[in-house]
Amino acid sequence: SPVSIIGAPTDVGAGHQGGRLGPEALRIAGLGEALQARGVDVVDRGNLDGPRNPWTGPVDGYRHIDEVTEWNRLAMEAVYAELSAGRMPILLGGDHCLGIGSVTAVARHCRETGKKLRLLWLDAHADFNTSEVTPSGNIHGMPVACLCGLGPRSLTHLGGDAPAMDASAVRQVGIRSVDDGEKKLIKEHGLDVYDMRYIDEVGMKRVMEEALAGMDDDTHLHVSFDVDFLDPSVAPGVGTTVPGGPNYREAQLVMEMIADSGRMASLDIMELNPILDRDNMTALVAVDLVESLFGKSTLMRA
Ligand code: ARG
Ligand code: MN
Ligand code: MN
Ligand code: MN
Repeated sequence: SPVSIIGAPTDVGAGHQGGRLGPEALRIAGLGEALQARGVDVVDRGNLDGPRNPWTGPVDGYRHIDEVTEWNRLAMEAVYAELSAGRMPILLGGDHCLGIGSVTAVARHCRETGKKLRLLWLDAHADFNTSEVTPSGNIHGMPVACLCGLGPRSLTHLGGDAPAMDASAVRQVGIRSVDDGEKKLIKEHGLDVYDMRYIDEVGMKRVMEEALAGMDDDTHLHVSFDVDFLDPSVAPGVGTTVPGGPNYREAQLVMEMIADSGRMASLDIMELNPILDRDNMTALVAVDLVESLFGKSTLMRA
């Protein structure tokens, strides 16, 4: 389907500034052109215009909650408009708190069109913190919890009268940094987590077969790609690097297997921080991976 690129230049949910430059860096790395070269009909909607980053400390366990809420409202409306028009939104972060707005819009679209939502969360972190257990107050550590109904009402009910989704629709891949209180919540809510140890034990191919299992023609797959999913050796341009992540080849396989599933209907590219990058290399890797997500293959297949 046709694609719409939406920039969300903010870092209000993060603990570092610079993520707000992410959308431009992805454009400069040639995201739009790469999709066009694959024959995709692409329109760049430009950037959302939300509040600036006040850069103040946490209050009651949340940093910048009003600004985070406003950015997510804007993201939700923009993503929902594209889905309603039959287009595939690609939301460029910005920090990962924006996953709340993005996935809330997708969940509403799924309810209206009778689709089943599957959320694939590619990340070093589980992003399942709450104000009670967060070590930082940074809301980019909380979006999955908010989507599943744990968090402040302004974020858990962004889309109306209920949380966006049930934890059973979430699959997390690449996880290797989980805070203590967060770990307990993940167990309680039964999140399906494919962490790095499991990836090492069984290999990325089997992990992705399991994470993508059970989808059918009625499934809307949303991919939320936090660039810190990648090993810092290939993707240094993020604020919260964690060693021991998927290498370039494993990441390519992830994207190729998602493409093969044929189910991806919306995408986030989050957490790129050009201030921390070298020669835009992380943005270039992200664009490479997006090409694979859209079916680019190095192999000649029969
Ligand atoms: N778990 C840490 C926190 O809550 C880090 C979260 C990082 N999240 C991210 N989207 N990069 O502060
Ligand atoms: Mn649709
Ligand atoms: Mn992360
Ligand atoms: Mn994240």
